[in-house]
Amino acid sequence: MTTPVRDALADGVPPLTGDVLAIRGGRPLRGRVDVKGAKNLATKAMVASLLGETVSTLRDVPAISDVAVVRSLLEVHGVRVSDGDEPGALVFDPSDVESAHFEEIDAHAGASRIPILFCGPLLHRLGQAFIPDLGGCRIGDRPIDFHLDALRKFGAIVEKLPSGIRLSTGGARLHGANIHLPYPSVGATEQVLLTAVRAEGTTELRNAAIEPEIMDLIAVLQKMGAIISYEPNRVIVIEGVEKLRGYDHRSIFDRNEAASWASAALATDGEIFVGGAKQQEMLTFLNVFRKAGGWFDIQEDGILFRRDGELKPVVVETDVHPGFMTDWQQPLVVALTQANGRSVVHETVYENRLGFTDALVKMGADIVVHPRGLQDGPRRVPRRDLEQAAVITGPTPLHAADIVVPDLRGGYSHVIAALTAEGESRVSGVDILSRGYEKFLTKLDAVGADFDVIR
Ligand code: EPZ
Repeated sequence: MTTPVRDALADGVPPLTGDVLAIRGGRPLRGRVDVKGAKNLATKAMVASLLGETVSTLRDVPAISDVAVVRSLLEVHGVRVSDGDEPGALVFDPSDVESAHFEEIDAHAGASRIPILFCGPLLHRLGQAFIPDLGGCRIGDRPIDFHLDALRKFGAIVEKLPSGIRLSTGGARLHGANIHLPYPSVGATEQVLLTAVRAEGTTELRNAAIEPEIMDLIAVLQKMGAIISYEPNRVIVIEGVEKLRGYDHRSIFDRNEAASWASAALATDGEIFVGGAKQQEMLTFLNVFRKAGGWFDIQEDGILFRRDGELKPVVVETDVHPGFMTDWQQPLVVALTQANGRSVVHETVYENRLGFTDALVKMGADIVVHPRGLQDGPRRVPRRDLEQAAVITGPTPLHAADIVVPDLRGGYSHVIAALTAEGESRVSGVDILSRGYEKFLTKLDAVGADFDVIR
């Protein structure tokens, strides 16, 4: 049954539950979208509430399924979660944290990677934890060796089971540690922060991730009473404390979603105002956006994005912050298929994050993926198999096709591709998008996209 999007939104049906979108492309997207708090901060700050003895309030929490997964995992552990005093605010009362039962945890883990970050807080609160196997986007094998090595250094006993990981403190209190990450992993840095703040003694973390979402998590923990010093050269020193209190915090905006809408404006030759977007956290993206032929205007309450004449080819290498985010490359690649010349996107963070380009080639794009990068000899990134490159030659008109969404950010790029292509494309598996993009159909409608929801 084909439901015009306005009807689908009007009667409040939960969008994107296994839906297929029939998207008619070839017209510029124009309008305003407002981005809420960052998916990759809000979910972590929610876990941090477990560490507090009193109530925490998190504001600007996006209504996405990754948040729902973490909410239900907190509730399974006895945290009472309720709506706050403004839209998008959640209140967490951790005073009755208790051990949950395995089947309950597993039922709630969902397709998220966040459960791994419950280890430290649960070990501090309960002396034990069980973390089921993780989900998350299929963009690589997503190992957690950095996490488990760090937890062992804090004194945790880690047992890998077929169904997940069992951890315990063996009755002792976790102690501070000296940890040097092999790679500035965002998740592993968060794991160390969430464990060290209540460990006995001092923890020194080297080669830490320093993404804006990490710095915002540090701000949350500092509000709770943690003592965390951010030093030069990716060093973070945490002095453990006995107790932490709750926090009241407004999440930073979601720069990944903001970059996605900016790329949509670029690809469709449209103009989109992204409310809530801020320049500081997007400096590197804005440089590449401008070099690719984009124009932007930084305003008080957001950023206006549009194309500024012809699209130009660019060479981009993804990297850890402050480099070009790996999450930004997928939506940008769609615009680069329309640029006049040859672009290169070098993915150095994940080993399988260019698979989404298959669908673009099916729609007429000229993209060649080099699974082992473009250069021989010593690799800039010391993990050889993680370097892939996509060579995009444009402009190539895109034509409609039936495509399946592979993962969160790749899925967004498929929607932009369908909005750029002439004709009607059928995009299935769009429910993945509800993991990271709040009110996605409403926003698409707000920028004038022509589509129907097929249930
Ligand atoms: C976070 O993933 C984000 N997810 C990702 O966003 C983001 O792309 C990534 O950081 C990089 O910025 C969340 O915050 C939920 P990593 P994370 O640990 O923490 C390897 C999105 O779309 N690694 O920095 O999993 C890993 O395989 C998602 O919002 C190990 O080898 O990223 C990868 O190659 C996609 N061992 C690299 O490090 C480990 O123990 C970077 O991973 C951990 C990671």
